[in-house]
Amino acid sequence: MIKFPGLIDIHVHLREPGAEYKEDFSTGTAAALAGGITTVFAMPNTDPPILDQASFSAAAALAEAKACCDYGIYLGAAEHNARDAAEVSNLAAGLKLYLDATYGSLLLENLSSWTDHFEHWPRSRPIVAHAEQKTLAALLTFSYIYQRPVHICHVSRKDEILLIKEAKRRGIPVTCEVAPHHLFLTEEDGKNMDSGRASVSPRLASLSDQQALWENLEVIDCIASDHAPHTLKEKDGNHAPPGFPGVETTLPLLLNAMQEDRLAKEDIIQKMFVNPKRIFSIPDQQDTWVEIDETHSYELTGPELFTKVKWTPFEGKRVQGLVRRVVIRGETVFQDGECLAQPGFGKNIRRNNPV
Ligand code: DOR
Ligand code: ZN
Ligand code: ZN
Repeated sequence: MIKFPGLIDIHVHLREPGAEYKEDFSTGTAAALAGGITTVFAMPNTDPPILDQASFSAAAALAEAKACCDYGIYLGAAEHNARDAAEVSNLAAGLKLYLDATYGSLLLENLSSWTDHFEHWPRSRPIVAHAEQKTLAALLTFSYIYQRPVHICHVSRKDEILLIKEAKRRGIPVTCEVAPHHLFLTEEDGKNMDSGRASVSPRLASLSDQQALWENLEVIDCIASDHAPHTLKEKDGNHAPPGFPGVETTLPLLLNAMQEDRLAKEDIIQKMFVNPKRIFSIPDQQDTWVEIDETHSYELTGPELFTKVKWTPFEGKRVQGLVRRVVIRGETVFQDGECLAQPGFGKNIRRNNPV
């Protein structure tokens, strides 16, 4: 048996409110526990999106009643909500900037709205962004000009990780995360999947992009699932939405890579505990840990997952390393395939912990 601290996934889409048929706070957080994750940060591209006090409070009330693990909730940046968003910044996990088009209605098209958000959002609180290619370069310029930290979501390409490496070397306060599907799948794997199922944003990349991520592990601050559940009916239909479920397969995939000597236990702890805690000022969870049977090998398969959508792009992949038990605040919340936490057990990490 090996032990980990309660791991943190700073990037999940829990779909509530608005698309509870894909996921909700209970199923998504139970899935997190099954994957050894004790804190998740929920993204704001819900329906309606989380943009102000009213929409934030509505989502927070649902989470408070339903979450099985601890959580934070991001506010979304829109063209005209910089003031409204900043007003609730003390309760939010951070501010999410959608700088490239993706799933949902949030997108900051005008430079003036970028400026607005950088001017209004308090400096001590996190800003995270979906920013690919030239958009990434533009955001790094903002980080430099405003001299404030930005965190880049799901970096997927060689040129992007190398640019971030160089930015860090020159003292720009940037951090980044990589998603497991970009570490463990390439566009070649995508060709062997139905095209709708392989759709994800950022898309699966080339082998050389994937290798660059592994060669620059020290540049990657966090690993986060970008858990983005859509039903198989949607994925296999016309106009498949982008996204993979992933919150409960991330740790098993990393444990398997650990068995293959591709990364160390300490890397997992750094990227899913130490660094997220530091970057997002996440308080300690007392008496919280995850127990792993590192000898147990099994196949990942959709029907056995806790996510409502019951599929995985890693279907049939054999992994070694099973989450046996998860304890939060001294209570066993997951054991041997069963979620034991009651909906409502999870706490908002910002409540009573202002940053
Ligand atoms: O693939 C993705 N799905 N990328 C995103 O940026 C959004 C997400 C979603 O919400 O489905
Ligand atoms: Zn994104
Ligand atoms: Zn996302």
